Amino acid sequence: MYASSIPQQIGYNHYKHYVSLFLSNETMLKQQFIDDLSAAKTPDEVEQVRVKYLGRKGLITNYAKNADFGKMTPEEKKNFGIVLNELKTFAAESLQKAIDTVKQSSTGTKNKLLDLSIPGSSSSLGALHPITLVQLEIESIFEGMGFTVLDSPEAETEYGNFESVNIPSDHPARDMQDTFWLQNEMVLRTHTSSNQVRALKRFGAPFRGIFPGRCFRYEAIDPSHENTFFQCEGLMVDKNISVANLIGVMKTLLSEVFHREIKVRLRPGFFPFVEPGFELDINCIFCGGKGCPICGDGWIELIPCGLVHPRVLEFGGVNPQEYSGFAFGLGLTRLAMMRFGVKDIRYFNCGDVRIYEQFNVFI
Ligand code: DAH
Repeated sequence: MYASSIPQQIGYNHYKHYVSLFLSNETMLKQQFIDDLSAAKTPDEVEQVRVKYLGRKGLITNYAKNADFGKMTPEEKKNFGIVLNELKTFAAESLQKAIDTVKQSSTGTKNKLLDLSIPGSSSSLGALHPITLVQLEIESIFEGMGFTVLDSPEAETEYGNFESVNIPSDHPARDMQDTFWLQNEMVLRTHTSSNQVRALKRFGAPFRGIFPGRCFRYEAIDPSHENTFFQCEGLMVDKNISVANLIGVMKTLLSEVFHREIKVRLRPGFFPFVEPGFELDINCIFCGGKGCPICGDGWIELIPCGLVHPRVLEFGGVNPQEYSGFAFGLGLTRLAMMRFGVKDIRYFNCGDVRIYEQFNVFI
């Protein structure tokens, strides 16, 4: 058989490089097979060669199917059968050898002794999240001042998130906090303040505690807004607690976080669960209070706070005639941004360990 009689159906174009007037079709097919197989370097590539030649529509398979037996003499038929079987056997055995070879070289076992001096592959440990680092620091500072650290639920009842902190359903303050509602009518807490009443009910007065945790708001995300962020609520209730106690605790906290004395100022601020309510600003740590692009006028708004509203004490079962207290809502995410100089809040939730690893030098 010669090239001119290669049946078209077996893909003449496939092996046109081998078309020769002097070589038989089987020889050219065999040569093409050998070339393809020696180019295969992985088990997958060897498998592709097998399919190409011995698969259901493979070149060798089709070669037999398309042979024109009608035009062959009995002698030619017999020879064709012998040649074809040899070709198939050759292809099958070569494929098996090739599989063994590529498997061995891909596992690296071929002719290799175990080399105990090769360094092992180390496992990567991950890193604490920068907000976790700040949270741990805050927890230990407050523990040093006699505060208990309490865990609390992220899904709250409507009463817990709003009413218990003096925000009834018709109160305009509800609009300050856009909320994710769950199907069971709970809310993803918009702040950690709901723990004030929970803690007073459970532990009574006097009480000192902080409640760090994740909060959620329906926010459009940009470099300074996130829908998922961390706060740390703090509450101290005792006899004769005043604004002086609040300022003292806040100054201690800030000087420990920033490792120096920090000047603070209080401005009036409205929050339904404190009376009076304040915005506590710190003297800008970037410019020292002169004014810069980050602070504007030399002050940075950092901790909303105030004296616990008598209604909240009552909700918690504590007598406001006997006890008073202060509360604050520290933005842990915001503090982490300032502490580590992170300019875009979105880094915190991106899940990329390469970002988080950079902060572990601070531990
Ligand atoms: N819960 C408030 C918020 O997320 C923050 C806050 C303000 C907490 C004043 C307080 C406080 O304890 O006294 O916006």
